[in-house]
Amino acid sequence: MSDIILCKTPKIKETPLILGIESSCDETAAAVICGRKILSGKIASSASLQALYGGVVPELASRAHTDAIDEVVEGALQEANVKKEQLDAVAVTYGAGLLGALLVGLSFAKGFAYGLNIPLIGVNHIRGHLAAAYLEDETLMPPFVTLLASGGHTAILYAKSETSFELLGGTLDDAAGEAFDKIARVLSLPYPGGPHLEALARDGQNVVPLPKMLKGEGGYQFSYSGLKTAVINYVHNAQQSGKSFSPADVACSFQHAALDILVEKIVQAAQEKKVDTVTAGGGVIANGYLRETLAAACQKAGLRLVLPAKERCTDNAAMIAAEGLIQYRQGNFSPLSLNAQAYIPLDLA
Ligand code: KG4
Ligand code: ZN
Repeated sequence: MSDIILCKTPKIKETPLILGIESSCDETAAAVICGRKILSGKIASSASLQALYGGVVPELASRAHTDAIDEVVEGALQEANVKKEQLDAVAVTYGAGLLGALLVGLSFAKGFAYGLNIPLIGVNHIRGHLAAAYLEDETLMPPFVTLLASGGHTAILYAKSETSFELLGGTLDDAAGEAFDKIARVLSLPYPGGPHLEALARDGQNVVPLPKMLKGEGGYQFSYSGLKTAVINYVHNAQQSGKSFSPADVACSFQHAALDILVEKIVQAAQEKKVDTVTAGGGVIANGYLRETLAAACQKAGLRLVLPAKERCTDNAAMIAAEGLIQYRQGNFSPLSLNAQAYIPLDLA
């Protein structure tokens, strides 16, 4: 049975009903879309449990997925008012992520697709983040440039088509989300760091002198390690010498230094590629300061900006269904032998 591709020649519909399933980290998510229209979205998160340990404990994540997945999928179908027999395909994240966590969603999706005799579509999580923007605007079509900023990736990409991207540049070390999480930890903020750091930054000012990130000389490359070390040194020096400092000012200054460069470079990339549209995806794109700065910069440069809603920037299943839709239209279905992958290189050509 392992190499069987379910429904080898299903009739490809223009607006199929697709169930998306995501379980790559600490969120168990399911969503139903009809074409690009979102019918439902359910998420169960083990983040509050993981917060007790300061980060994601893989085994706890796997167990939480196992406990939640039936209810989350059932809830998504009910909210969409769709019977499982009406579904045209099941799209599921197969990587990258925590292996045990991925296997819960993937095994569930395989069983579901097999039982219903509909196609299984394995989705690369990062492609899901990139596809989230399609759900916001029915008319969105490549070419455009896109800013990817998540916990594992920071990159600027040129979307040539729905399935083909050119990587214009990425981070040389940490991803933006990773830097947010590390700085949040230094400021004793709870897991997950990004949203807490953003909230703290709202009470602060951009007054702490921090090194500028790679600029023109870096092309479309980024480096967060120097900035991260500077913030850590600033905080440790203050603590060791008993000087008081404002954590809110540190958070605000870090946020400016970490995010302004992304805005500057994505606008530069749009101009260089002569496209009129900018999109974005990944957890860091939920950051309110980044969204406002991006909107202002794109407006100034005469660019159309299509941002996923905040809840579809962080991990969710609608984005997995959105990428599933792209693959469905290509007739690109997965065999039941599809395995989970902990790592997938950012090779999106
Ligand atoms: O895309 P995502 O949910 O998971 C990955 O695929 O990595 O991104 C998670 C990352 C974390 O590093 C988290 O701290 C960051 O996105 N993040 C934020 C915000 N919300 C989530 N970073 C800055 N500001 C936020 N509001
Ligand atoms: Zn993600």
